[in-house]
Amino acid sequence: MNPSKEKLLNEAYQKFLDIGLSIDSSMDNLEVYIDKDVMGYGTTLDEKILSFSGFRELMHRQREQSEGLQMEWKLNPVLRRVLPQENAAVYADDILLKITMAHETVEMRLRCSVVMEFKKDTWVVIHWHASKPEAVTSEEDTFGLEEWKTKNEALEKKVAEKTAQLQQSLNDLKATQAQLIQSEKMASLGELTAGIAHEIQNPLNFVNNFSEVSIELLNEMEEAILKSDRDEINAISTDIKQNLEKINHHGKRADAIVRGMLQHSQSSTGKKEPTDINALCDEYLRLSYHGLRAKDKSFNATIKTDFDNSIGSIKIIPQDIGRVILNLLTNAFYVVNEKKQQKIEGYEPTVSISTKKSVDKIEIRVSDNGNGIPQKVLDKIFQPFFTTKPTGQGTGLGLSLSYDIVKAHGGELKVETKEARRPW
Ligand SMILES: Nc1ncnc2c1ncn2[C@@H]1O[C@H](COP(=O)(O)OP(=O)(O)OP(=O)(O)O)[C@@H](O)[C@H]1O
Ligand SMILES: [Mg+2]
Repeated sequence: MNPSKEKLLNEAYQKFLDIGLSIDSSMDNLEVYIDKDVMGYGTTLDEKILSFSGFRELMHRQREQSEGLQMEWKLNPVLRRVLPQENAAVYADDILLKITMAHETVEMRLRCSVVMEFKKDTWVVIHWHASKPEAVTSEEDTFGLEEWKTKNEALEKKVAEKTAQLQQSLNDLKATQAQLIQSEKMASLGELTAGIAHEIQNPLNFVNNFSEVSIELLNEMEEAILKSDRDEINAISTDIKQNLEKINHHGKRADAIVRGMLQHSQSSTGKKEPTDINALCDEYLRLSYHGLRAKDKSFNATIKTDFDNSIGSIKIIPQDIGRVILNLLTNAFYVVNEKKQQKIEGYEPTVSISTKKSVDKIEIRVSDNGNGIPQKVLDKIFQPFFTTKPTGQGTGLGLSLSYDIVKAHGGELKVETKEARRPW
């Protein structure tokens, strides 16, 4: 075959492949390369083309389906054959097609054979047959992509369903958690109310009883005045005085309870300021020790301090942290004093306070060699109004308040105990 005729043949074949496989190739002048009676089989069962218009429709359909896809293809020539009269040629290729869709690439193989006829000085395609080794059964799915998409969608749907399920469990979990927190709040509110009622009821009973008795005493006194019985008048007046002192004492108790509660409910008015923690501990140590000694002259205890001098000053609300330290120390002094009353041989009441700096926190530790805290007490020590002290000696608000203060400072208040320690 002369070279120009061969060149035309190759050009016509190339153009046919371009039209079929490069979706952005021009569809102009199709009739130059495609015979008006072209007959062909496409890759799917229903792609059976019997005319030029059928071919054009197929190409349009294919382009619509392939919108947004990127296609690359590579030929692996199988056959190049020209008939002896040089008026017809058969070309066959294995084609590797790479289709990229949304960052994913699928590869597929096509087998394609094309028959071209030399008519009026040009080569036109009169027949072609393209097939895919995999079976594809729909006219809508030339490249078998629909099937792939469907699988993908089913998978995505499953993932979405699972995600929705997980989201639902998460929501349920959050709701349950919120409910738990709420009911805990309600429980502690109920406890608090019961606690307040109980705490205030007790001093109020005293106030009521002693005032009632005092009224009776005053009636008796009126009679004594009428009788001018001086001795009786004096005796009754002494009783009334004692009663009034008791009323006053229990009134003050109620007052302390109410004040403690107010401290609990009010947010601190103090400001954070750089504070020398060691000096603060020292100050409150003296305050609590001498406070106790003022009440009970016989009280004394060994005091141990171990301050970390590298701490420097740190930002806290000094009066609030001071209150925490004071309460811890008061509790400690109280228990060692109690244990001392047991007259255990060799027992020396000891209270220690130490400070220590670590990477991101400061630790203040107050310890005592009292009897320790039994488990059933340990469970409740941070509850408001929980106290094991006799009436009038503690409101049971010390640790609960301390807990809140430490928490407000972003810290932790922890307790360690060993029950029934040996005397040091
Ligand atoms: N160092 C300690 N050793 C043994 N038990 C303690 C110690 N500190 C506290 N407790 C127990 O915890 C209880 C609650 O302490 P908290 O400081 O809250 O109240 P309180 O000291 O009883 O009363 P308040 O501090 O209001 O005067 C105490 O009554 C006591 O039983
Ligand atoms: Mg206390």
